[in-house]
Amino acid sequence: MSTEQRSALPDPRVGTSPAALDLPTDFLWGAATSAYQIEGAAALDGRTASIWDTFSHTPGAIENNDHGDVACDHYHRMPEDVALLHELGLDAYRFSLSWPRVQPGGRGPANAKGLDFYDRLVDELLGRGIAPWATLYHWDLPQELEDAGGWSARDTAYRLADFAELAAGRLGDRVRHWITLNEPFCSAVLGYHLGCHAPGRTHFPSAVRAVHHLLLGHGLAAQRIRAAASRHARVGITFNPSQVYAAGTEPADLAAAHQADGMGRRLYLDPVLLGRYPTDVTEELDRRGAPLPVRGGDLGVIAQPLDFLGVNYYFSDTIAAGDTKEPRRVPRTDLPLTAMPWEIHPQGMTDLLVGIHRDYPAPPIYVTENGAAFDDSTCDTDAEGRLQDTRRTAYLADHLAAVARARAQGVDVRGYFAWSLMDNFEWAYGYGKRFGIVHVDFATQQRRLKHSALWLSRTARATRAR
Ligand code: FCB
Repeated sequence: MSTEQRSALPDPRVGTSPAALDLPTDFLWGAATSAYQIEGAAALDGRTASIWDTFSHTPGAIENNDHGDVACDHYHRMPEDVALLHELGLDAYRFSLSWPRVQPGGRGPANAKGLDFYDRLVDELLGRGIAPWATLYHWDLPQELEDAGGWSARDTAYRLADFAELAAGRLGDRVRHWITLNEPFCSAVLGYHLGCHAPGRTHFPSAVRAVHHLLLGHGLAAQRIRAAASRHARVGITFNPSQVYAAGTEPADLAAAHQADGMGRRLYLDPVLLGRYPTDVTEELDRRGAPLPVRGGDLGVIAQPLDFLGVNYYFSDTIAAGDTKEPRRVPRTDLPLTAMPWEIHPQGMTDLLVGIHRDYPAPPIYVTENGAAFDDSTCDTDAEGRLQDTRRTAYLADHLAAVARARAQGVDVRGYFAWSLMDNFEWAYGYGKRFGIVHVDFATQQRRLKHSALWLSRTARATRAR
């Protein structure tokens, strides 16, 4: 690369300098993806349908009727994608295992070809010096299990535990970091109450049942991973806890904000980290005729000791009292928006992390997702064809600075995974919303680095060398 071209690349010191970030030299730098969003090969090598295959093939469910049949074709391009991670010099890669690829139908023995794929992925990563961080469940429930009740059925928690044992039995000699669930709030609320995610159900009591069964599944899976892995496994869970602000100082607004905090944060963190559900939330759920289906001993299982806590953050919530008793989300017109359109509020990330540290005896925290969708079609390209996605670069820089501020306030945050390694199938939004630090041309499957990837890479290197 010539000096001229090099100088055309973004200077990592533009915006937030690596030194100003004040992150430790052993901070973990990574990028994240999930199986259904990138793999494609939907009907190959014994894989059966997940709820996302069914949902995305339901006309009108997904923008543009997009689906994950091919996605980024990562199943066939995995070595090329791992080479990208290597080129960027990232320490870790967070991916998820496709349940219906590993255990078609969600019951019974493993599908050898399915596990072989993850075996190759893990070896490829380790061969490149990249630590594999495996998420067991990133939303792709086998359709057969949904037909038997899905997460509203208690049995699904035990099925997740069996799947965990199959995965850890095969990969647990090399995968050290395991994340049981990704964002159980989304699985339960978007999937079973709001219906905008698979399986597309709109029954509030089923969503509440799903919350408990997901958390029970987490506890059971954590136990089985630890028992099945031949190498000491570090087990965690990834939440997307709401960071709630009251819209005003009136008692009604404060009460609404407290209620939203209960439904979006404490309902998940309390059982896992404190071993109990918050009573104000359980009372509210009982009042709404949607009790949590807790049985004796469940909370002991759910509150497994954790080696780390995964936190995903994209935006915060400002809440006011609604006309009915429901809290109401109010837009903050002072904040810029991403293409989702989600409000950009880095300080919310600092406040979220500080709040977790204040309220819980939390294990070390890793930011397991953070990133932004922008319309990259308006970006210029540099001499080497790389997209100059300055808004995404600024988003990452501002949020890493927010992480550094949380650390300065005593929060033990040890790493950060950008969402996402590459543009992919963004659930209900399809391929129209691009979160990648690597651009994907979905017609040709060509990958192209964006400047946000170069910024992350250089910042990681500069921080290590501090
Ligand atoms: C999170 C999901 C992830 C991705 C981002 C944008 O809620 O975990 O798969 O879609 O949002």
